[in-house]
Amino acid sequence: MSMTNSGDWPDSFDFDKDAICQRIFLPFIQEHLDGMANLDQERIIEFERKKNSPEFKDKFAPDEKLNYTFSDHLARVHDRILDTADLLGIDKTAAKNTAKAALLHDYGKLYQDINLWIDTPEKSSGALKETRRQHAKTGADLIKEHITDNMDALMADNSDLISEREDILDHPFLSLALDIAENHHEHMDGSGTLGKTADQLSGPVKLVAIIESHDGYCVKRPHQPRARTPLEGFDHMVKKDGLFDPTYLHAFKNVLKQEETCLKKPQQNSGFPDAGTSATVHHHDHI
Ligand SMILES: [Fe+2]
Ligand SMILES: [Fe+2]
Repeated sequence: MSMTNSGDWPDSFDFDKDAICQRIFLPFIQEHLDGMANLDQERIIEFERKKNSPEFKDKFAPDEKLNYTFSDHLARVHDRILDTADLLGIDKTAAKNTAKAALLHDYGKLYQDINLWIDTPEKSSGALKETRRQHAKTGADLIKEHITDNMDALMADNSDLISEREDILDHPFLSLALDIAENHHEHMDGSGTLGKTADQLSGPVKLVAIIESHDGYCVKRPHQPRARTPLEGFDHMVKKDGLFDPTYLHAFKNVLKQEETCLKKPQQNSGFPDAGTSATVHHHDHI
């Protein structure tokens, strides 16, 4: 059932088999995921410090935690891209390539002031929201800059790679990762961060935009009284019409319904204390 084939799904290479992806982009993603995991640890410490500071004392609920970790966000987004693309009948290789590229979508957050991403009991708005949103464009710029820097460092040691430089910088995986990073906060109606409209957004960008924004609505954050369930998060996300691709939204909602059905099944004892409580049911290898 292939109801979606807008022609821009990246099926001209296979991340798992492509030599440049494996040698250049895979370690680049791994390094980014390690960086985000370290940042999450620092954010947890900063959060506790802020919560106990004179300025915020008594403003947070005493048991409030930093729940919105970037590493978990990336893992959930990766898995749900695969599940939703599957329901849409999108080519499996293209879906996998997109899910890998989406692991870099918040790249820019790693280079922003850590305090920007320590939530307070007040919902982000105005200048804070504006500054946070810059991670999309600066993330894309930094991915390109860092890949180029890595090339230069590699080539200093191995001149054989010089001929590959262009192949790497022109690689469709890099274009895909830059497209997703730069445009994942755009909306179909032009009300997103950069004001791009539907005709300027690729299929992968439209899908990632839905899945990653939904994730942020479901995590318990200090300005919300409780976490939303995935389906409540979905309803909250579609309150405003025209922001997202309707076909992709429909498929994504079905993925969430399937997850809910799976979660309601009697839990099997897998030996892991947390098994079955994760928001995402299907577990795919991220790397
Ligand atoms: Fe983002
Ligand atoms: Fe994100």
